[in-house]
Amino acid sequence: MKQMIPLDPAHASRRSSPLGISRLKVWLFVLLLGCLGAVLAQSEDAPYQDPALSTTERVDDLLARMTLEEKVGQMTQVNVSRLMGGGEWDRGPLNEEWLQVILADHQVGSLLSGGGASPVPNTPESWARMTNDLQRYAIENSRLGIPIVYGIDAVHGHNNVVGATIYPHNIGLAASWNPELAERIAQRTARDVRATGIHWNFAPVTDIGRDPRWGRFYETFGEDPYLASAFVEASVRGYQGDDLAAGVAATVKHFVGYGAPLTGQDRTSALIPLRTLREVHLPSAQAGFEAGAATVMINSGSVNGIPAHASGYLLTDLLRDQLGFEGVAVSDWNDIDKLVNNHRVAATYKDAVELSINAGVDMYMVPHDAATYTRTLLELVQEGRVSEARIDEAVRRVLTLKFELGLFEEPYVDESQADDIVREANRSLAYEAAVSSLTLLENFNTLPLEGAQTILVTGPGADSIIAPMGGWTIGWQGVESPSEVPPGVTVLQGLRERAPEGVTVEHVRGNDPAQLGAALESADVAVVVLSEPPYAEMEGDSDTLRLAVDQEEHLRQVLASGKPTVLVLFAGRPILLPDDIRNSRMAFIMAYLPGSEAGSAIADVIYGNANPSGRLPFTWPSHTGQLPLTYDAPATEVAMREAHYPFGYGLSYTRFQQSALSASVAGEAVDVTVTVSNTGDREGTETVMVFVQRPPSGILTPMRQLVGFTQVTLEPGESEEVSLSIPVSRFSIVTGDILGEGERMVVPGTYRLLVGRLQAQVTLGQP
Ligand code: NOJ
Repeated sequence: MKQMIPLDPAHASRRSSPLGISRLKVWLFVLLLGCLGAVLAQSEDAPYQDPALSTTERVDDLLARMTLEEKVGQMTQVNVSRLMGGGEWDRGPLNEEWLQVILADHQVGSLLSGGGASPVPNTPESWARMTNDLQRYAIENSRLGIPIVYGIDAVHGHNNVVGATIYPHNIGLAASWNPELAERIAQRTARDVRATGIHWNFAPVTDIGRDPRWGRFYETFGEDPYLASAFVEASVRGYQGDDLAAGVAATVKHFVGYGAPLTGQDRTSALIPLRTLREVHLPSAQAGFEAGAATVMINSGSVNGIPAHASGYLLTDLLRDQLGFEGVAVSDWNDIDKLVNNHRVAATYKDAVELSINAGVDMYMVPHDAATYTRTLLELVQEGRVSEARIDEAVRRVLTLKFELGLFEEPYVDESQADDIVREANRSLAYEAAVSSLTLLENFNTLPLEGAQTILVTGPGADSIIAPMGGWTIGWQGVESPSEVPPGVTVLQGLRERAPEGVTVEHVRGNDPAQLGAALESADVAVVVLSEPPYAEMEGDSDTLRLAVDQEEHLRQVLASGKPTVLVLFAGRPILLPDDIRNSRMAFIMAYLPGSEAGSAIADVIYGNANPSGRLPFTWPSHTGQLPLTYDAPATEVAMREAHYPFGYGLSYTRFQQSALSASVAGEAVDVTVTVSNTGDREGTETVMVFVQRPPSGILTPMRQLVGFTQVTLEPGESEEVSLSIPVSRFSIVTGDILGEGERMVVPGTYRLLVGRLQAQVTLGQP
């Protein structure tokens, strides 16, 4: 039998006996009733405990047994650091007093580890032990035995856990143009996350990276709605699998329009015409919902003057009524409070809670002060400002999630397995993803290195394992302590381990010009590894897109030596190099944030064991004055704003030719075929990108918009005909006048398909 915890013991003890009998007798009576109630409420054969019943039946039964206080608890999510140590950010052991307050007194239904709130020591096994301990306490102190659902940001592997393999951040993954890789990474991540007792992943990011100044650009799959949709869909499939009870719940985040703040600064206002919202920002979220994502996290910013957390239009009309999403809508961190203190759209916290819950937030990521939130929401229900029906609706969604995750059947995890499952898992997949993302932007016949005897490796990223990881790695802002570092290979290690016979790899650490000058004299070639520091969210906003001046100076000195030079860049966004550097002859590998296998993948590309095939998933601007700059501009803008490197750009060590493009309409699809030939002398992978140019229709449309892509790997001299089947719906646009409220439809007319320099036409939408 579970222990029954009075929800408000202080209040209970103040009550006087209406019958005038002795206090002791009343207590005995209450205790007896309580025990009886608990037995009845949670008897083993209560319908909600029966896995043979449908989720709906179980939810109905459980909901009917719950008090309002218990329901409000299910709508609350607390950061685990609140339950640890002595303060809100102390990673000490679980604290009994706070377990009692959060899990017993307030019946909080969900916990998270936000930004790396990890146990000490940070090992997979101690994560599993911690989540088991929390789960046990929650279940044993819940009258109805309701388990908690635990969430985390495992956005490139199980990235908070030391020992877990780190995969490329999304921006690099998108450069692979291979969503199947994202699906396998998500599957593997789900397994690792679940092995540590965690069931809910706050991923994938579905925001569209339209402005590289934004500190979260690298968390996106780039600027194109269709490319991002393909990666989102694959990721959701990978995280959740066919059976949520064996995977983790995915999160479409952040709903919606978070990726386009006008200033480029995180969480500042976005002004997005409805047409753009629907055509650019919504498709990737919709792809996540269609793939079955169980949850959604709300955009922390505002759109067109309304914070998303207060928008009934976004959270109910659009999300529920139009898109038909039925899962849990969780707030982002502290965002109801921000309606008062940041956005200033609500005068009091109470008004803000009313606004947000009524708009459609089901669960509030508090993240620390559960008491104020639960008390406020209870008052709002008692005052009739939030209806009980709205509470039931939200709790129903949360309970459905818990049942479908199998938490009532298997709330605990085998701690002894966690280390074996998580540690260094699937490094070969991390390698495959890293090597497929590397994008060769310049070469000048420098790469692959052939005939160099002495290679000088230099620059701050050369022997760093932190630089290729970026933010959201162990800590929120990236690795913070040398004692908690993920496994990985640096560029220096990779180049040394893979050096061909007779090749020496020298390394200069630091910025001393004399030392660098001396090392350059005896080098045949220099590999300069530059890097942005790790960052996350607003800490990563950049007005300049520049590297630190000393890094530019370092590269300048190397270039001045006249030695063949390879620049390797770890960065989460396009970086603007000064003109003199940018106009120099050097090879340039954009490495993004490739994770654990950075060094091996980069060394293989440098030595020619791998042929680079990454293609930019964003437009690389020439200067910041052009921002925001994306490839899918209408006719009026295309000609005047030339990119430094265009969307989809990337070089190879071989040459490809595309020929014989044809397109035809086949029912609800457009079939496209094109022949790809490898005319160079190495095996290589080519990405075929199909763009559309739509007919004039009274509405501005992009001069080119991606509607399909595929990849082919060819031996030298080999040719292959590749085919794509593109649903006609992908050619649709949002109709209507300037409000962009019209139907999405395929406007009748002749559509031009563009593949490389080739063109074909199809006629669509004719009766
Ligand atoms: C804030 C971030 O915006 C969100 O992406 C993340 O999931 C939560 N914090 C939890 O860490």
